[in-house]
Amino acid sequence: MSKPEVPVLALDGPSGAGKGTVAGLLSKRLNWHLLDSGAIYRVLALIAERAAIAMGDVASLIDITRSMAVTLPVDAQGRSRVLLDGVDVTASIRSEACGERASEVAALPTVRRALLRCQREFHKPPGLVADGRDMGTVVFPDAIVKIYLTASAQERAYRRYKQLMEQGISGNLTALLQDINARDGRDRTRAVSPLIPATDAIIVDTTGKSVEAVVDLVLSQMPRHVIFSH
Ligand code: C5P
Repeated sequence: MSKPEVPVLALDGPSGAGKGTVAGLLSKRLNWHLLDSGAIYRVLALIAERAAIAMGDVASLIDITRSMAVTLPVDAQGRSRVLLDGVDVTASIRSEACGERASEVAALPTVRRALLRCQREFHKPPGLVADGRDMGTVVFPDAIVKIYLTASAQERAYRRYKQLMEQGISGNLTALLQDINARDGRDRTRAVSPLIPATDAIIVDTTGKSVEAVVDLVLSQMPRHVIFSH
């Protein structure tokens, strides 16, 4: 299962810590594959919604995980798209509602277990940047470098607000902050794979730091032989 010869950079942390942007740019800089594991949970939530499958119907959710074909191509700017059976579902899965449902799906232990195979399929040469909540603790415990990105809840809510504005979607900062706190609470307290830094993770607070500064900081933590051997 584990492929120690193929390095993994695990990037974990709460919503809005900047993981997605940083992970996309790192995958470009290193020329490694990219796994946005949140997108996998979101796609499962989207399929369940479209098929009117209730969150309590765990057997049907697990059934979906066996056949869902997700690809995550990255463009030249390091922005990833999300394709389900070759169809671009990026906009649909990025909604707040889909994020909420994803977080409910993610609280189901057997569903998390069923999604392990799907996530580990992204672990291919020359390397993988894996972005999520439990990359360093559960999915890729042998990752060569584990980074836990964080930022204050206020800053994370503000980033989300700006992101929505850029997409022409109106947002309410207070409501976004409440959503972030609620989702963090659920992610941190769930029984299985709670959002916690791996014991060997390097904690990076991105509050007030530019994306470029965070990317450079993460790269500076990578063993040189890993960066230069590819
Ligand atoms: O990162 P993103 O906001 O897209 O993730 C959506 C939800 O999926 C998170 O709120 C979290 O509940 C769940 N998730 C998870 N484990 C991961 C990635 C995401 O539980 N590795």
